[in-house]
Amino acid sequence: MNAKRTILITGGAGFIGSHVVRLFVNKYPEYRIINVDKLTYAGNLANLEDLKDAPNHVFVKADICDYDRMKALMEEYDVDGIIHLAAESHVDRSIRDPFTFARTNVMGTLSLLQAARLCWEVRPEGYEGKRFYHISTDEVYGALELTCPEGMDSPFTTTASSAEHHHAYGEDFFLESTKYDPHSPYSASKASSDHFVRAYHDTYGMPTIVTNCSNNYGPYQFPEKLIPLFINNIRQGKPLPVYGKGENVRDWLYVEDHARAIDLIFHQGKVAETYNIGGFNEWKNIDIIKVIIATVDRLLGNPEGHSLPLITYITDRAGHDLRYAIDSRKLQAELGWEPSLQFEEGIEKTVLWYLDHQDWMDHITSGEYVKYYEEMYINR
Ligand code: NAD
Ligand code: TYD
Repeated sequence: MNAKRTILITGGAGFIGSHVVRLFVNKYPEYRIINVDKLTYAGNLANLEDLKDAPNHVFVKADICDYDRMKALMEEYDVDGIIHLAAESHVDRSIRDPFTFARTNVMGTLSLLQAARLCWEVRPEGYEGKRFYHISTDEVYGALELTCPEGMDSPFTTTASSAEHHHAYGEDFFLESTKYDPHSPYSASKASSDHFVRAYHDTYGMPTIVTNCSNNYGPYQFPEKLIPLFINNIRQGKPLPVYGKGENVRDWLYVEDHARAIDLIFHQGKVAETYNIGGFNEWKNIDIIKVIIATVDRLLGNPEGHSLPLITYITDRAGHDLRYAIDSRKLQAELGWEPSLQFEEGIEKTVLWYLDHQDWMDHITSGEYVKYYEEMYINR
């Protein structure tokens, strides 16, 4: 294929990566997309079923920590852009197995950076036209205060244009300038990888970009994360394990809106910049859980409140960050990005998708994940 650009996307068989690969493969037939994924427990080729015959999509099963392989791939395909999503991504797993997180998230990112550097620096045009785009998380910023009194609805409102009517659970938000303060092994490993990416810009002049996004939800998310886990458990009448009092706040964004932001920033973002991505959509866990219960019960034809008794309060996650809230006004002002979906619409689409894709869910929950789930929640 004589491609206009060749972009290497890592982690493209995972949750967010599969949406990014789908967007790029379909929107840019003139690009060649090299999708590199190790297919860990979280990587699933069923997430890419519709792209298996796409002529501009090449799937490569490989570990990003394999430096020689990464460099050879970049040379073989003449890669000029990298969108790096591959990571270990679940906080609870990072608490149990921090080494795997350091290996993939830190050493894997470094391996890609070094491979890209040695591949690009020897070209006559050097870094001209190249881009290394690293996908990170808001969790690197630490935790915000929850200034809304317990049991009360949020007293604050955001002032961002797209979110005039939305509430917030505190006065502070994460800005691009917020000092890093990670608390979990997951966020510590992501913070470390972000620093390496910025160091490659400052030291070697590599054209890098970093974005920090809030919690994503939507189709193809591995059912260890809150929303798909709870949808599946409600359907099966299983307990819904709520950590602590369910008072922690997360800021939720529909995954396709994240993928659209990545497309925009990859093409139009400024080199060496950081952009926060979020939809001004804060929810206390217990409130979002009640919305999920009401939606699943309604779509399954259960009476109102039918699954509420499944809520089971359990021991809190160690070091559980209280509140995340992203201020994404820089991205809105500079590149004109706005979330396209209201939360009510997004959660309805998401629940419908999981209920309609029971095979996808059953396939995942029949294997390794069941073992993990039992260790996590049953023998706790
Ligand atoms: P995911 O766990 O669903 O997918 C990760 C993918 O990376 C999987 O396909 C897995 O097989 C692959 N992978 C893991 N280790 C690898 C290795 N050593 N080599 C090659 N591939 C490997 O994760 P996700 O939720 O899609 O997150 C993608 C990225 O976005 C991550 O970098 C994460 O930190 C970031 N992020 C996620 C969220 C969220 O809410 N899920 C929010 C903000 C940022
Ligand atoms: P999660 O989906 O793991 O994302 P993150 O930890 O990256 O924010 O969890 C979202 C929130 O839901 C978080 O505050 C932890 C909480 N949670 C539960 O209460 N019970 C669960 O079983 C899970 C998976 C999460």
